[in-house]
Amino acid sequence: MDLRYRKTIIAGNWKMNLNAEEAKRFITELKPLAARAKWCDIVLCVPFLQIPAAVKAAKGTKIAIGAQNCHYEPSGAYTGEISCGMLAEAGVKYVIVGHSERRRDWGDTDKLVNQKVLAALQAGLRPIVCVGETLEMRDNGVTLDVVRMQVKTALRGVMLEQLRRVTLAYEPIWAIGTGYTATPQQANEVGACIREVLRQNYGARAARGVSILYGGSMNTGNAYQLLAQPDVDGGLIGGASLRTESFGKIIEAAEQHE
Ligand code: 13P
Repeated sequence: MDLRYRKTIIAGNWKMNLNAEEAKRFITELKPLAARAKWCDIVLCVPFLQIPAAVKAAKGTKIAIGAQNCHYEPSGAYTGEISCGMLAEAGVKYVIVGHSERRRDWGDTDKLVNQKVLAALQAGLRPIVCVGETLEMRDNGVTLDVVRMQVKTALRGVMLEQLRRVTLAYEPIWAIGTGYTATPQQANEVGACIREVLRQNYGARAARGVSILYGGSMNTGNAYQLLAQPDVDGGLIGGASLRTESFGKIIEAAEQHE
């Protein structure tokens, strides 16, 4: 992280976990710690149905509520989908786009991810754009090529003035939910590569201002080291974001870096 230029963001991705009651309790428990956080922006990406309860519980705190997906059209015959406008109306500030689980199970291609990023920005949301390689890609030495392409495609048509509302998240697929974490060096190498793509497309000043998160088995034991890297500006945390104790410790780890 580099606090001179960009925000540190600690974001939880609850995936399909926690009911409304649990969401409320989680946020109530997190409030005192959130109030003490000086550097970190805290985001909780909750299941769609938990959004109203979460927004209500987080009102007046530093905790922002995010969604985990969106549709790219503002309205229409898209059964089962939720538009960015609906999310914004419900009080959502962030939306995860292109998570590898959606790319894998729901056919979110780079092109679709791009459409969702543009729709999110249009609706005033802050997209958290996920990119990352499979183990096979890493073994074949194509990680940086793959990530470069994912970032370029995801941001096609994003204007310079919109970029400051975009957050990137490097999530190596082999590290998600597996207990295997990228080393701080690996996370930083890809983070720096993402920033280089941003620099080429938007200039050094704009690129410096974008927060690039790491996700993939981030936990209380490895967060401090990962967050010490200059191009790791926060975390997108799955499993360890489901309990206030572990999520809180990761926030504290981030706060120790000044
Ligand atoms: P885990 O932290 O459970 O590995 O999940 C990471 C993730 O997918 C966050 O979006």
